[in-house]
Amino acid sequence: MAAAKATLTDSLSFCLAQLTAAAGEGLVGGKDPATNETPLGRALLALRTRHIKAAGGIERFRARGGLRPLLALLRRAAAADPAPSDEGPGSAPLSVASAASAGPSPSPSPASSAVSPSSPSPSPPVRLRKTLDLALSILANCCTDGACRAEVRRLGGILPLVTILQCVKTDSIQNRTARALGNLAVDPESSGEIHSAGAVPLLVESLTACQDSQCLQSVVRALRNLADSPPHRLALAQQGAVRPLAELLATASDPALTSALVRALLELSRGCSRACAEQLSLGGGLGPLVSLASHPKRLVRETSILILANLCAQGLVRPALGNAGGVEVLLDELRRRRGPSAASPASQQPLVRAVCLLCREAINRARLRDAGGLELLMGLLRDPRASAWHPRVVAALVGFLYDTGALGRLQALGLVPLLAGQLCGDAGEEEEEGREAASWDFPEERTPERAEAGSFRSLRSWLISEGYAGDVSPDWSPERCPLPEPADPVITTPGKTSLRSPGALRTLGRSPAAPAAAEEPWGREGPALLLLSRFSQAPDPSGALVTGPALCGLLAYVTGAPGPPSPRALRILARLTCNPACLEAFVRSYGAALLRAWLVLGVAPDDWPAPRARPVRRNQHRELGEMLLQNLTVQAESPFGVGALTHLLLSGSSEDRVACALTLPFICRKPSLWRRLLLDQGGLRLLLTALTRPAPHPLFLFFAADSLSCLQGLVSPAASPAFPAAAPMDADPPTPCLYEPLLAPAPALAPDLYFLLDSGLQLPAQRATSAAASPFFRALLSGSFAEAQMDLVPLRGLSPSAAWPILHHLHGCRGCGAALGPVPPPGQPLLGSEAEEALEAAGRFLLPGLEEELEEAVGRIHLGPQGAPESVGEVFRLGRPRLAAHCARWTLGPGRCPRKRALALVGLVEAAGEEAGPLTEALLAVVMGLESGGKGPSLDG
Ligand SMILES: *[C@@H]1O[C@H](CO)[C@@H](O)[C@H](O)[C@H]1NC(C)=O
Ligand SMILES: *[C@@H]1O[C@H](CO)[C@@H](O)[C@H](O)[C@H]1NC(C)=O
Repeated sequence: MAAAKATLTDSLSFCLAQLTAAAGEGLVGGKDPATNETPLGRALLALRTRHIKAAGGIERFRARGGLRPLLALLRRAAAADPAPSDEGPGSAPLSVASAASAGPSPSPSPASSAVSPSSPSPSPPVRLRKTLDLALSILANCCTDGACRAEVRRLGGILPLVTILQCVKTDSIQNRTARALGNLAVDPESSGEIHSAGAVPLLVESLTACQDSQCLQSVVRALRNLADSPPHRLALAQQGAVRPLAELLATASDPALTSALVRALLELSRGCSRACAEQLSLGGGLGPLVSLASHPKRLVRETSILILANLCAQGLVRPALGNAGGVEVLLDELRRRRGPSAASPASQQPLVRAVCLLCREAINRARLRDAGGLELLMGLLRDPRASAWHPRVVAALVGFLYDTGALGRLQALGLVPLLAGQLCGDAGEEEEEGREAASWDFPEERTPERAEAGSFRSLRSWLISEGYAGDVSPDWSPERCPLPEPADPVITTPGKTSLRSPGALRTLGRSPAAPAAAEEPWGREGPALLLLSRFSQAPDPSGALVTGPALCGLLAYVTGAPGPPSPRALRILARLTCNPACLEAFVRSYGAALLRAWLVLGVAPDDWPAPRARPVRRNQHRELGEMLLQNLTVQAESPFGVGALTHLLLSGSSEDRVACALTLPFICRKPSLWRRLLLDQGGLRLLLTALTRPAPHPLFLFFAADSLSCLQGLVSPAASPAFPAAAPMDADPPTPCLYEPLLAPAPALAPDLYFLLDSGLQLPAQRATSAAASPFFRALLSGSFAEAQMDLVPLRGLSPSAAWPILHHLHGCRGCGAALGPVPPPGQPLLGSEAEEALEAAGRFLLPGLEEELEEAVGRIHLGPQGAPESVGEVFRLGRPRLAAHCARWTLGPGRCPRKRALALVGLVEAAGEEAGPLTEALLAVVMGLESGGKGPSLDG
């Protein structure tokens, strides 16, 4: 008997036959269930415990067509009687089960009689429920396999399962049905069908009805798998799935159930909807979640924390979340993930987002500040790997706009230079990243009330409508904010009182007219500028804001380098330039010079020395720059400013004294002041001697050239023409040549002498005229030397080209153009040229007039109005004082392009090398308008 029993149920075919028979019989008509229950039960048991569990068993069961009769069995059960029967086990009427087992009664097989002894006469309902239980168990196991799930769906197996869920309210049946549905929901198509079939309310009901922990776990898991897409998550929340889960979390004692609950809640809270947040909070889930954040099991701990992070997306739950201790939990976790054993940046993302969202409520900001959140946020801002989150972090910090304690802390942590640096930062990539970050984030925050908001628009409208403006902290007072900004969103309505009136601002923010009217571009830097604007209202913001990098950032924004020009950045600069406490910083940091270079002259730091091609709005910027410099001038010329500048120039460090001298021409119009400081007290000489020292600022020589030129304009307001020496030569036609006639084939005036050059060339000359030209030639040609008797007089070391202007000069030519001959064209070196040779010879031959004429020729060719700045240094290298003066004039003359001017000065400084004296004197003379004759007067004393 035992062998026969084993043989029969060992056969899959036998079991399938039983199953098929039972399923088929049911279709034929009702029979006494008690007669055939036993063989079917044995077959099902064998299928579940042996055939399905064997290797490849599920696949074999499916391939042999087992699913169809199995589902038919269930379908019949489901169709039989949908009346709910929620009595406990044993008391269920289970007419479904009767239907399931109904069928003709075949003659009992030997095997069937062998199975029964253990349960000789179970009551039909109990036996039938056992059949259903076994069938569901087999189905649930089969549904761990993808091919089986597909077939179950194809065979329409989902609907009967949902019906069973509705009708058979026994824990074990609910358990197995939920498990089967949970397995099926792994496939998105099935999940959708299960939702459509109305399974969710039934599962939710089971959550409160089931007592058994394992049954609850199956239901919870089914709900988790059904939360597989945003619409499904929303549907689950709207059908009340979250609240019972939260309630269970508060009471669950079984660790496995707790684990299942947090896993389900994590899925349900993704992109957290308002309904989800509300139910989680109302179900009392916040406290347990915060407690579970320190659970010994890592999965539970981290899952709970992530649920809290997800919940932060909903403003309505954030205050309660903070009250429950969520702020500290999220901060600690973010700190941990950023710690030495740092997890990947991606794993920090939900926490960064949550912490930033927590900055939106005053109550949570206070907690965050007290728990070291500001330090954490600053750490993120400093971390280049976190750059994608920087815009978000900065926007979060805007929440602290009126918390002076927090602002002080942020300033101490170095926020201002960081923000300014971000303004200055490389516009391209970062900006794109910022936009991306916004687009995957803000849409998630949309709620029905604010559905129109998107990306940064939503941030902005949030700022206006319910953000920082609504909760001015008690320690903030208007007195501490001397210069309100009429156009900042905080103060858009007239009058300061609106600052304290969140209602008014809310109305303003939501009114349809508001977005269009007087709205400033709210770019990525909007929040950063808002913060900087706030910092700029401090009594003395100079330390943080009037620095090279900060001013660079602001100016970049004013000129619209990263985006459209920002009026707010301009207002910040206007405020700083009007603050007496900032004057000294503007001088010492070369800020005033930078304002002028960038705005007035259109040369940004990265435009020097090579220009960068980009569109500029020169005229508009020039006006802005002049306005800002005018404001600085007002400060500089006030009694306070005069005192500060005098002190700086006379008693500052050597760097400060140079910076002061350089800046004065830009911010000082009062002659008594600049004369005293620059001319009488040596400021100008200080600046000039600093030119050849290592420059303390990358733009130093640019600034210096500009400054000297400005000063020259102040000294000589009606400036003489730029090229006083060149002008007469340009104007006068060449005078007639007196030497050419000697070269004619039959000269009217015959030469009585030939000069013999090293090259063998003989140049005709007249002895008397030549001897009269200079003491040298008089001695040579009419003195006691042998040459006085010779007709062929050697002139050694002179090339023909260099000799040419000398012979002209000897014969009385003045301005016939011969002096131009030996001068190489612009761009070619002068040192070692025939021009230099001719100049040397003119000196040697004691011909000062010729020297002057040759110098004029060099100046005319190399320092013309359109000359290249590179020529200036080249000319200076000839080491001739008159030419040095010409170089200085060319460099500082009015009307010169500022870039060329600066390049010329760079060339001069290079050419001067260690020997700074001649350059200093030349520049000094030009600035002072005293250059004629090349002798610079001493200005000291
Ligand atoms: C619930 O289902 C699981 C998985 O099938 C099973 O292990 C457990 O015994 C079932 N519990 C009850 C009470 O039915
Ligand atoms: C700055 O200077 C401009 C031009 O002189 C002036 O119109 C403006 O009022 C000044 N700004 C402030 C804030 O004083």
